[in-house]
Amino acid sequence: MGNGGEIGIIGLAVMGQNLALNFARHGFRVCVYNRTAERTEAFLRDRVREEPITPAYTLEEFVRCLEHPRRILLMVQAGSAVDQVIEALLPLLEPGDLVMDGGNSHYTDTERRMQRLAAHGIQFLGVGISGGEKGALLGPSIMPGGSPEAYGMVEGMLTRIAARSEEGPCCAYMGRGGAGHYVKMVHNAIEYAFMQGIAEAYDFMKTALGMSIEAIAETFERWNEGTLNAFLTELAARVLRYRDPESGDPLVERILDRAEQKGTGRWAAQSALELGVPTPTLTAAVFARTISHFKADRERIGATFPWPDRHTGPFSGEILSDLEAALNVVVLAAFSQGLWLLSEASRAYNYGTDRAEVLRVWRAGCIIRARWLGFLREVVREDPEDPHLLFSARFRAELQRRLPAAGRILQWAFEAGIPMPALSTAVDYVLAMRRSRLPANLIQAQRDAFGAHTYERIDRPGVFHTEWMD
Ligand SMILES: NC(=O)c1ccc[n+]([C@@H]2O[C@H](COP(=O)([O-])OP(=O)(O)OC[C@H]3O[C@@H](n4cnc5c(N)ncnc54)[C@H](OP(=O)(O)O)[C@@H]3O)[C@@H](O)[C@H]2O)c1
Repeated sequence: MGNGGEIGIIGLAVMGQNLALNFARHGFRVCVYNRTAERTEAFLRDRVREEPITPAYTLEEFVRCLEHPRRILLMVQAGSAVDQVIEALLPLLEPGDLVMDGGNSHYTDTERRMQRLAAHGIQFLGVGISGGEKGALLGPSIMPGGSPEAYGMVEGMLTRIAARSEEGPCCAYMGRGGAGHYVKMVHNAIEYAFMQGIAEAYDFMKTALGMSIEAIAETFERWNEGTLNAFLTELAARVLRYRDPESGDPLVERILDRAEQKGTGRWAAQSALELGVPTPTLTAAVFARTISHFKADRERIGATFPWPDRHTGPFSGEILSDLEAALNVVVLAAFSQGLWLLSEASRAYNYGTDRAEVLRVWRAGCIIRARWLGFLREVVREDPEDPHLLFSARFRAELQRRLPAAGRILQWAFEAGIPMPALSTAVDYVLAMRRSRLPANLIQAQRDAFGAHTYERIDRPGVFHTEWMD
């Protein structure tokens, strides 16, 4: 179709604008539309220079602007806005066109929308995009899911604008149905856990060790040179170093201690509960944010609940390397749980997700990019069908050598009154998964005693019930 737009973007908030510029700077002709015309005008005025970007001010104009088959990326607010835009677009589209949702949509919504559009012969991809506004402009990590044919229509374009690592472009087919948004949801859940682990380490250094913010920033910088090399480790140091222009103090110390969340972490926890996959560290990070919200309650309870709050030591000189090891345990446990969840979801929902590809796509561009990913990919590739990283001797060895240090940190944290939910669930998870016999036998006995729920025996097959009270 010659000079028509090769891709259309609907929604010109920060993500849509930056993705439009990214596509255009890679030479693709882009058509853009935003519900509110002023936003489109401001985008063209303030940010578009030589880039091949054509504005449209009605949806009719927008679809006319695009070559056939049309390829349209929605970057509107997740939720009902996506449905509203799809319904408005539907009468204007033709069979063979492709719609992509690049927002943080719930995977079940994606599957519903896919079916709705399929009934009209229109392809639909749920595309997870990570990297924030900077990533959108300079190279995000892209997680598309849907039919392989639909992915084939945009593979060349998406891989061009994606971040690159030494293992190739950070975009790959994540599987059928809502797989793309499912993978993005698990990415975000791991992000929650990683951030919670970092926050706990900061709290420990500040509260238990009485370290200055500068010294804590320096410690994160040092850790960023080693196994904890990761975007989030580096970001923690940067944020800690930033000074409030007014007071000259570290800005982070002036920020209210209430963490917000937009829902992807909670969705992952809900999905894990539904699928019966244990993700205690991912879930603990969600609850930690929830608890942070109860600031007034915490103040009220804390006022009459004395605890040391500051540890006086003596600490061994190794304490910071213990803490570094402990944060590694959190990160490894979070990936282990996230990848187990992905494996079960892929089986239950027939996604066909290749977790080695997921780890490759997370190597650069996204928020959880980290040095560990290369190692984790090797572990997954050793046995791609295996749901557990913990079945790998190499993976177990990495955890085992750090577990004693993690245990020491937890002991000190308890004495200093520092909650470390990410670390304690990570340690518990590993301890439980290495334990061939758990006390669940007593739970089964009690369930049978009060509710005749029956139990199995270890010394003979069958299902048993006992009249315990006789
Ligand atoms: N921000 C990030 O770092 C980031 C990272 C990864 C993924 N995401 C996801 O990417 C998507 C876009 O994020 P964002 O931060 O750029 O924007 P956003 O604030 O989530 O959404 C604002 C955009 O949605 C449009 N919109 C809202 N309701 C609409 C409706 N009923 N009909 C048509 N358009 C509607 C707005 O148009 P108007 O101008 O007319 O209001 C505006 O263009 C979201 O799903 C977000 O979760 C964001």
